[in-house]
Amino acid sequence: MPFYSTRGKIPKKRHTIFKNKDGNHRYEQLFGTEGFTGFSSLLYHIHRPTQITAIKRPYSIKPKIQTDNNITPRLFHGLKLKGEKDYLKSRKPILINSDVQITLASPQKLKSDYFYKNADADELIFIHKGEGTLRTHLGNIEFKYGDYLIIPRGVIYKLEFKKTENRLLIVESYSPIYTPNRYRNKFGQLLEHSPFCERDIRGPSELETYDKKGEFLIKVKKKQVMHSLIYATHPFDVVGWDGYNFPYSFSIHDFESITGRIHQPPPVHQTFQAHNFVVCSFCPRMYDYHPLSIPAPYNHSNIDSEEVIYYVDGDFMSRNDVDQGYISLHPSGIPHGPHPGAMERSIGEKSTDELAVMVDTFNPLMLTEEALKLDDGKYFKSWVE
Ligand SMILES: [Fe+2]
Repeated sequence: MPFYSTRGKIPKKRHTIFKNKDGNHRYEQLFGTEGFTGFSSLLYHIHRPTQITAIKRPYSIKPKIQTDNNITPRLFHGLKLKGEKDYLKSRKPILINSDVQITLASPQKLKSDYFYKNADADELIFIHKGEGTLRTHLGNIEFKYGDYLIIPRGVIYKLEFKKTENRLLIVESYSPIYTPNRYRNKFGQLLEHSPFCERDIRGPSELETYDKKGEFLIKVKKKQVMHSLIYATHPFDVVGWDGYNFPYSFSIHDFESITGRIHQPPPVHQTFQAHNFVVCSFCPRMYDYHPLSIPAPYNHSNIDSEEVIYYVDGDFMSRNDVDQGYISLHPSGIPHGPHPGAMERSIGEKSTDELAVMVDTFNPLMLTEEALKLDDGKYFKSWVE
């Protein structure tokens, strides 16, 4: 996040001697996501963070692509995805391109006995159902329904759930995920016209620090392969850190929608940006208030972007027959718009309680085998009167 934060104990000056009471050195680590020019934090470990004792056989987690040139509007029944006990096994990629991977997950096990790190991608985890704690080597964040968890690449983490019924939408981004440029000034501060500000963003609240030796398994995802590395020391051994690179959460319920007298375009719902895709939040809000306004959106050509909408809750104004956990895909190359009757229905309505997350990608998405299992197969005909 573009604001400075610090947790735990750090030395007065960076890159200088920092010892504990017994005279043992702390080990400094620069933790960034884009070379030496992007966001970074300086971490202070009890042990060297490089002590690998074994590397187990890696295994492929490359998704099976079923359709790599899709022009069919699709509707996926996301909640039909079967749950799996293990968190990593439960992650099922459905839509993929070279910028982003969109994954659904329904993990059932409350805790896992390994740590996990994504070496390629920042992860955005939207919590549709579930509650628990994101534990990381930079501190812990409690999460619940409606939270976006933003986990920069390289963060070592565990997700712990309170119950076995959990539904997650995971967006893996091969470029860093930021808040939209146009809402930030040149110093990074979120401006007055932004639909949220720094007060709505929650960084890690407590630092868990263990001085432990043993065998610690970190699963590292790199280039669609899962590597298993055994470390000699507990990965959560950071006594303090400061900087700009850390995981955080933002609740979709804290997104203050921008409304107008007439229909506002989708960018007003934008919440995050990354290279070649954006994430938007459709939240409960007042409808347009011009006496002749049409609250439903107009047909739009999206010739150059693919639109993925994950329906979270409420009645989605422009669609017929969509329910919680459904995901629509409106591919690039052909226009889409409200369903028959939706435009007429919207006229005179004062407000909506819809809640949805949209991912718009500027490159076409490929569909996985897992996606086609959830596809209703008939959505493309749903505009015919
Ligand atoms: Fe659209």
